[in-house]
Amino acid sequence: SKAPACKLVIFGAGGDLTKRLLMPALYNLSCSDLLPDDFNLYGVDRGDSSDDAWKQSLTETMQSFTKDNAAEFYTPEIDEARWGWVTDRMHYLQGDFSEDEVFRKIGQAIGDDSTIFYLAVSARFFGTIVDGLGKAGLLKQSDGMFRRVIIEKPFGSDLPTAQALNTQILGQADESQIYRIDHFLGKETVQSIMAVRFANGLFEPSWRREYIDHVQITAAETVGVEKRGAFYEPTGALRDMIPNHLFTLLCMVAMEPPNSFDAEAVRNEKAKLMEAIRPLQPDEVVRGQYGAGSQSGEDVPGYRGEPSVALDSKTETYIALKLSIENWRWAGVPFYLRTGKRLAGRQTVISIHHKPAPYRLFRDTRVEKLTPNVVRILIDPEQGIETQFDAKVPGPQMKLGRVQTSAHFKDFFDEKPSVGYETLLYDCMVGDTTLFQRADAIDASWTAVQPVLDSWRAGEGQVETYAAGSQGPAQADALLGSDGRHWLPLG
Ligand code: BG6
Repeated sequence: SKAPACKLVIFGAGGDLTKRLLMPALYNLSCSDLLPDDFNLYGVDRGDSSDDAWKQSLTETMQSFTKDNAAEFYTPEIDEARWGWVTDRMHYLQGDFSEDEVFRKIGQAIGDDSTIFYLAVSARFFGTIVDGLGKAGLLKQSDGMFRRVIIEKPFGSDLPTAQALNTQILGQADESQIYRIDHFLGKETVQSIMAVRFANGLFEPSWRREYIDHVQITAAETVGVEKRGAFYEPTGALRDMIPNHLFTLLCMVAMEPPNSFDAEAVRNEKAKLMEAIRPLQPDEVVRGQYGAGSQSGEDVPGYRGEPSVALDSKTETYIALKLSIENWRWAGVPFYLRTGKRLAGRQTVISIHHKPAPYRLFRDTRVEKLTPNVVRILIDPEQGIETQFDAKVPGPQMKLGRVQTSAHFKDFFDEKPSVGYETLLYDCMVGDTTLFQRADAIDASWTAVQPVLDSWRAGEGQVETYAAGSQGPAQADALLGSDGRHWLPLG
């Protein structure tokens, strides 16, 4: 049903996120009739623009997006009536985020109405904007009127900066008003992991250290750093992906079942899981950076040859690590995480590797050893679940052969078009914080990676080169190899 009456103010109206994700998501929400009737959208940015110029530029991008990414939209061509409904409600407010004037203008525009402030800006403005909003009295709520703030990532660049940012923000607003985004939580399959784990008797009983040998979590990309060198240089793969996106996947696959889908019940379990992560050991982390190579038959430059990247850059574009979760369910089960750019395949997937079955029964067959079962949870670009197990090869002898089942969710369900931000925006409008990060979880996730950041700051942590289009650095194979395990191949 429609979201309750509210307005949306986007800081960073001229930015990439607004263009690529927020406007398409608002358009999709309007197509499914979920936006409130009296919806109004205010775009705030520093550049000179006007209501008409802002609408015009977004209309052009929307037109090209709907054509090129039809699967993400309700109609292959923009639906003029639906889009018109959105543009009729768009207003541009020009202003500098660090000046009082802009908050005065916003205050006038929103009056006493319920409002969401979306910070689609560079992280250095997060604190400033929340301060500005708070000082202008725009975060005060009253009966039936809410004020909420959506904050994009990165949330801090290490533990002290994340804590300082939380303190600054919570100085102006209550935790319940703050919606920290991790867009991986907006991905359909990430939520469906909870459904699959907890709604079935098949998986959950064996989802523990007695039966699981190890877990691999992979978020591999084929794209390079693209035009984001200036952001990526001081960030790198660890900060960009691990404490947020990969830990989100880790929580979904490893947390205890919550008692309900109530936001706090789910967030409590996630926070508990993050707190149980043993702080990472720097010698169990592999850093890599892509060199020149070839991808889809084309030669591509190395990271150091990308725009806005230093010729001698030591920023990692790949990270692989081993972690332990120190609780009853997972003690002794290693979790191997890896993520990187310019790898052999685009694949976000979690694989659960079971312990092998007892061998006695097969001693007299030609089998040399039993191969462990693997359950693969596919998140991107395919969504679904695959299992691998052994069956008997037909014939007179007992011979085992590997079989695989693939359940791709698109074959079972009508998928609604989405860019991934629809759920997040809608949930914020209805006040559901389940898919957003709470301050304690952010704290716990940075606490887990901080020893590695400290060791790098002290000059440790060599960056290994891997060829673009490859499986990543050889040292990442050694990380599992020394435990007698290996990564599932990419691509
Ligand atoms: C972003 C990172 O948060 O997530 C990017 O900043 C990365 O570097 C992206 O490419 C990956 O998201 P997705 O949804 O494409 O897997």
